[in-house]
Formats: sequence, C-alpha cells, structure tokens
Amino acid sequence: MSGTLYGLGVGPGDPELVTLKALRVLRALPVVAYPAPPEGTSFARSVVASQLSPAQAEIAIRVPMTRAVAPAQAVYDRAALDIGRHLEAGRDVGVLCQGDPFFYGSFIQLFERLATRYPTQVVPGVSSLTACAAAAGVPLVTRDEILTVLPATLAEAALEKRLKQAEAAAILKLGRHLAKVRRILKRLGLADRATYIEHASLASQKIQPLAGADPASAPYFSMILVRRGKVAR
Ligand SMILES: C[S@@+](CC[C@H](N)C(=O)[O-])C[C@H]1O[C@@H](n2cnc3c(N)ncnc32)[C@H](O)[C@@H]1O
Repeated sequence: MSGTLYGLGVGPGDPELVTLKALRVLRALPVVAYPAPPEGTSFARSVVASQLSPAQAEIAIRVPMTRAVAPAQAVYDRAALDIGRHLEAGRDVGVLCQGDPFFYGSFIQLFERLATRYPTQVVPGVSSLTACAAAAGVPLVTRDEILTVLPATLAEAALEKRLKQAEAAAILKLGRHLAKVRRILKRLGLADRATYIEHASLASQKIQPLAGADPASAPYFSMILVRRGKVAR
C-alpha cells in the first residue's frame, strides 16, 4: 500500500501558531519535505525545527528565485518524482507549507502532480491573511463586505482596476512592489486607510501606516491591508 501525502500548514511564523493536528502528523512522519531558497534555510522548516527528529528523512525543494516559470516547474517535477518514490514504498511524506497549503502555497504544485495518484490530506494552517489582520488589529471584513485578495506582482493597471472596485483588500507578495502599490492607493485616495505589516507573528514583526513604510527595505513576507469603509488604526 502506498504512503499518504500530507500538505502541512505551519502558520505564519510563530511556532505557537502551528496547529495541534499539524504537530501530531509531523511527529509521526518518516519523510519531511519543504520549499527552500537555492541556498540557506527553509522558512517553513525553521518554524517546526524543534519538532523534527534526526530519524526523519528530509527533502529540501530548492526553488529558484526567478520570475521565469520553467526552472521552478522542473524543480517541482523532480521533487514530485522523489516524493513519489517514498510514497510508492509505503512511506508517508509531509510537505511543510508556510501559512496555509492551499492559500498561494507552493504545496499546490506538488498536489497537482501527485494527488490523483496517492492518498492526500491537507492540514490547514493559520494563513498570513488572518495573522496580519490580528497582528495589526485591523478587521478584514464584516457583515456583507467583500474582501479582495491581490498579489502585488500584478501589473500596475490591473492592480489599480481591482483596487478601485474593492471594499477591502489584502495585497500580498509585496516586497519590491511596495512603491507601485502605494502609488496606486494614493491615486485612489486610499493610502491613509492602508496598513503595512511585515513578518507578522515573528519577533521581527513591524506594523505601520502605509505612509511610513520604506519601499527600499520591504521584505517578501509583507502585506498591505486596506478597508474603504473604516480607517485602519
Ligand atoms: C506565496 S504567499 C504564501 C502564503 C501562505 N501560504 C499563507 O497562507 O499565508 C507569500 C506571501 O504571503 C504573505 N506572508 C506570508 N507570511 C507572512 C507574514 N508572517 N507576515 C506578512 N506577510 C506574510 C506575504 O505577502 C508573502 O509575500
């Protein structure tokens, strides 16, 4: 019988925000995989590092930092083969995912390659969306408001079109796109309703009105929350 593939959400960074279920599954796994930069440590692994045992085999999926699609697809193809071999041999494999696996998670790449062939379970995690809202004290949406989730990587015109219509929005994947997003929000008269959050739930967490955020130093793990009806605090 083949092993089971698990997508394990490990939350936004604070180890206390890992769910009991994710921990239980993680501790029983013979094989643990995780996305990692071309060199250096995996953020998802660092969140649960204290829970890993030397008896567990580890697979670091080293994803290139490029906008080109093909190199990353080749890495996920190879990772799916590696993971598939363990599953064929009857070993369960857990893929650690920052936040929630199905919310912009790289686990989706493996899910699409493996879930039709192997038993698969997804353990949800606390997503950055709710972690940022909680950290900033900014409610996301209430009553019949609509929340629009946007990657800052979209072209300026596309972002502006969506933000123009949005009642409340979360803008992810900010990093080097901060200046572009701030320009748009200023044009739409929304800049003073926007809150900038980086590294939510970590010791390095920073929260400030968008006006004060520095485009030169915004890290990848940052987002903007904006709500038309209410001024963010
Ligand atoms: C590829 S998405 C992954 C989202 C993740 N699966 C989740 O559920 O939150 C990465 C983006 O999530 C946001 N993000 C993730 N963790 C964050 C954190 N601790 N603080 C602020 N933003 C975060 C950032 O906008 C980052 O660019």
